[in-house]
Amino acid sequence: MKSLELENVKKAYGATPVLDGISLSLEPREFIAFLGPSGSGKSTLLRIIAGLETLDEGEVRLEGKRIDHLPPGERGVAMVFQQYALYPHMSVRENMAFGLKNARVPADEIAARIAQAAQVLEIEALLDRKPGQLSGGQRQRVAIGRAIVKQPRLFLLDEPLSNLDAALRMRTRIELAQLRQRVDAAIIMVTHDQAEAMTLADRMVVMNERRIQQIGAPMDVYARPANTFVARFVGSPAMTLAGAELAEGYGAFARLRLGDGTIVSTRVPRAGLPASGLQIGLRPEMVKVAGDGTGAAANVELVERLGERTLVYAALADGQKIVAEDEGASRVRLGDKVHLRILGEAAHVFGPDGAGFHAT
Ligand SMILES: Nc1ncnc2c1ncn2[C@@H]1O[C@H](COP(=O)(O)OP(=O)(O)OP(=O)(O)O)[C@@H](O)[C@H]1O
Ligand SMILES: [Mg+2]
Repeated sequence: MKSLELENVKKAYGATPVLDGISLSLEPREFIAFLGPSGSGKSTLLRIIAGLETLDEGEVRLEGKRIDHLPPGERGVAMVFQQYALYPHMSVRENMAFGLKNARVPADEIAARIAQAAQVLEIEALLDRKPGQLSGGQRQRVAIGRAIVKQPRLFLLDEPLSNLDAALRMRTRIELAQLRQRVDAAIIMVTHDQAEAMTLADRMVVMNERRIQQIGAPMDVYARPANTFVARFVGSPAMTLAGAELAEGYGAFARLRLGDGTIVSTRVPRAGLPASGLQIGLRPEMVKVAGDGTGAAANVELVERLGERTLVYAALADGQKIVAEDEGASRVRLGDKVHLRILGEAAHVFGPDGAGFHAT
């Protein structure tokens, strides 16, 4: 049986549509990451699933049962907010017990659940402290603990790690990965951090403009972006998109001519490609600074040294911006004229409507 199922969920605030036909289904115990720009409706969708917001159209089912008309407490869903409001006057233990007491769970059962969650999250020593006596990361764990003790069938985490510093974030990320091994529930997490999504999620859902743009395993989305939005949104730095036209050639694969005349031989099937209005998509690792003076001439506009590799932001002869890669010990400097070798085998092609075509 599926875990969560969303069917054609629509939502508008007044005359402004926010979600326009969202459909999605989760496997049991699946971990899904939601990615998308600010305002794309991620929190709204989570709040609809949790029952904190109504939907205008569509259905929400959990394990086969319709839940969109149930009050939040009866849905089997627990949500952790970005602003993890803990009750400041209650101890950690009382914070975790609060919802269960309201649901009339027996006291010994509450104690047992708290003990177990505290062990999983390693907050046993903190149970009698007040939230004000905890670090940000510890408070975050208490907020997650408060969700765990409800024993939900689905966890909704809205940017749970965004208030943490880099080191703590990394540790909590590992904790989340371990947590998902131990809880028998599906998890949806909203994040702005792609590395987080890539590390934790079985599948990621990329949202933009009220709709799901793509659903897939992180590496599939990275390797086969459905459209130009996903292509630019997933991966850092963003993929270069450059206007291109089909060059003559009789092979099965498309050869493209860039604006400066450079020909790129792709592994994208020529059949089925629109005749005009194409763009080629190149990730930095597909564009190398050539030491031998062959390839497309370019002017270097910025050099970003990352240690193990160097990113070279350059402009081709026609002004087209392009991001290339060089080795860590690169000698390229700002203002240099370089040559770029484009590795066309992994290039993407996008049609006039933005739809992606990929190497076979
Ligand atoms: N209660 C509300 N009344 C009116 N408009 C709202 C309300 N809540 C959200 N919106 C609007 O709905 C859209 C989606 O908001 P939402 O909070 O779901 O975005 P998000 O994807 O979570 O963004 P972020 O990444 O910034 O958290 C935004 O344009 C927002 O302004
Ligand atoms: Mg949000």
